[in-house]
Amino acid sequence: MSDNNATIEDYFSEDRVFTPTDNFSKQALANDLSLYESAEADFEKFWESQAKELLDWYEPFGQVCEWQLPFSKWFIGGKLNVSFNCLDRHVLAGRGGKVAYYWEGEPGEKISVTYSELLDQVSQFANCLKNLGVKKGDRVAIYMPMILELPIAMLACTRIGAAHSVVFGGFSSDALAGRINDAQAKLVITADGGYRRGATVQLKSNVDLALEECSTVDHVVVVRRTNTQVNMVAGRDVWWDELITGVSTKCEPVAMDSEDLLFLLYTSGTTAKPKGIMHTTGGYLTQVAYTHKYVFDLKPESDIYWCAADIGWVTGHSYILYGPLTNGATSIIYEGTPDFPDKDRWWDIIERYKVTILYTAPTAIRTFMKWGEEYPSKHDLSSLRLLGSVGEPINPEAWIWYYTHIGQSNCPVVDTWWQTETGGIMISPLPGVTKLKPGSATFALPGIFVEVVDDNGNKVEKGGGYLTIVRPWPGMLRGIYGDPERYRETYWSRFEGRYFAGDGAKVDDDGYLWLLGRVDDVMNVSGHRISTTEVESALVDHPSVAEAAVVGANDPTTGQAIIGFVTLKSGETQSSEKGEELRAHVARVIGAIARPKTIIFTDELPKTRSGKIMRRLLADVANGRSLGDTTTLADPSVVEEIRSKASDSTAED
Ligand code: WTA
Repeated sequence: MSDNNATIEDYFSEDRVFTPTDNFSKQALANDLSLYESAEADFEKFWESQAKELLDWYEPFGQVCEWQLPFSKWFIGGKLNVSFNCLDRHVLAGRGGKVAYYWEGEPGEKISVTYSELLDQVSQFANCLKNLGVKKGDRVAIYMPMILELPIAMLACTRIGAAHSVVFGGFSSDALAGRINDAQAKLVITADGGYRRGATVQLKSNVDLALEECSTVDHVVVVRRTNTQVNMVAGRDVWWDELITGVSTKCEPVAMDSEDLLFLLYTSGTTAKPKGIMHTTGGYLTQVAYTHKYVFDLKPESDIYWCAADIGWVTGHSYILYGPLTNGATSIIYEGTPDFPDKDRWWDIIERYKVTILYTAPTAIRTFMKWGEEYPSKHDLSSLRLLGSVGEPINPEAWIWYYTHIGQSNCPVVDTWWQTETGGIMISPLPGVTKLKPGSATFALPGIFVEVVDDNGNKVEKGGGYLTIVRPWPGMLRGIYGDPERYRETYWSRFEGRYFAGDGAKVDDDGYLWLLGRVDDVMNVSGHRISTTEVESALVDHPSVAEAAVVGANDPTTGQAIIGFVTLKSGETQSSEKGEELRAHVARVIGAIARPKTIIFTDELPKTRSGKIMRRLLADVANGRSLGDTTTLADPSVVEEIRSKASDSTAED
């Protein structure tokens, strides 16, 4: 471990280099530096040509980019429709019979849907939305399992100009209610339930609970998936299958302004209130189409592409829906968990569909490593030609395992860095061009300009610092819904004139970028960003709890694991049952994803004299590190007490 001016510590030391093979480079869409060169030469012209080449516009745009820091507009005056770009134009070009999605349910059902079938279903559901009173500019909340109705619902919103706000199906009713209220959603689309690891999970009952807190929702559309008994409220709730019966499959797409809101996606921040990240139409679609094409070297005629994320996260939005469909790809959607019915489900899917491109997260890769290589080795994975990774830093060991056991030492691995806020991939190799270093996301893509800076905002040529973005980009967030000040404060106040991503990064001798994780208080658990404050609020919400501080501890499987330090109210007894109860409580309030791995009871928390909890010290304790500076502590003995408790406690999972 080395100390880079105390900005960020870096742990990686990795010398292996993988040069693109001749075979790969020869067939690659990008196999020289020309994209980099043209973006360097004239960055607006570069994005203009991507927007014109990759998308169909009803009305052409004038100015490419208007930049009034921190607000950007792209492709000004241009008019387009996202569902038209994703569906109609492929059908009009005679490719309607091509499969858009091979969908596989967890229990094993298989459905394939072609571009023209998808267009019909999207148009039909778009008509249903109109019949329920949804209009251009309205927000629609979507809370669904990974079934085909989910992309259909999203695309139907885009067809009529309503913005969707997809809430991950693992979130609790409270989390859903907060997001519905913030967006003032008019309609909720859900299902009775979903399948997960052989069991069913309830969704509709969570919607019912959430709606007790919400006043803006007129209707709830419910897909029948698990045939679970649900309560349908007369006048409010309608079954999807009954709603679509007899409805026309033709629906004229609405011409949207390039800067009209396309969707909201809520992401955790450092305070308890999640941020509604706003993405608009023309810029977002340009960036996801461009990155999907070049980063994955996508050949729509021959590739079978699989992004194994959940559509409820931005990765699913950009690289299951909008990028692949705009590019006319054939994709896989799998509903369930990778260990159902056994731990080789993914490899079985790859073998059966002859998947050529796989995009997943380090947390999944580390889980597969834990399960062992016998699972992939039972299957023929020779169809694969490219692998991708996203969500958190991929450690070299996991990269090599992925490369060797999944890619059979024959597939480039593209480690892609980006965020909900960036809309699309920002830092990544171009697989036919870039020499790979395991664990490094390599370089900013052509058209994207990043710099690592030190505490004072000076550019770091070599060593660790903070990752910043120095020019606007088409897919950038346009703000936080309803809170422009928070947008400015969160992303643009730390370093003047720069977007601060909140991540640490290191530049090596060859100029490669190595991502070092979050520098703020947001934890990254299995690739999901969870705010410490949200979990703390959930713990304190429990009647027994007086105070709580939450930190992330390195975890070999999930990246970080949540450790909660809890002070109980007097008269309450510290016990493992109580710890269990608190963990379950957090899962109920926020969702299972935020369930702390361990609860450590302590009589006091370490605080500064002004009363701020020092999470940094707790993180040192939780990670078994020697303690950093303790001089600002109000009571230094507190941290020693916590340390002895932490070493006694065993992780409960
Ligand atoms: C982290 C997911 C290292 C990072 C698309 C970022 C990564 C946060 C990588 C965004 C990567 C994502 N290497 N770290 N390749 N990709 N991250 O909004 O901390 O869910 O800020 O978007 O994940 O997470 P989000």
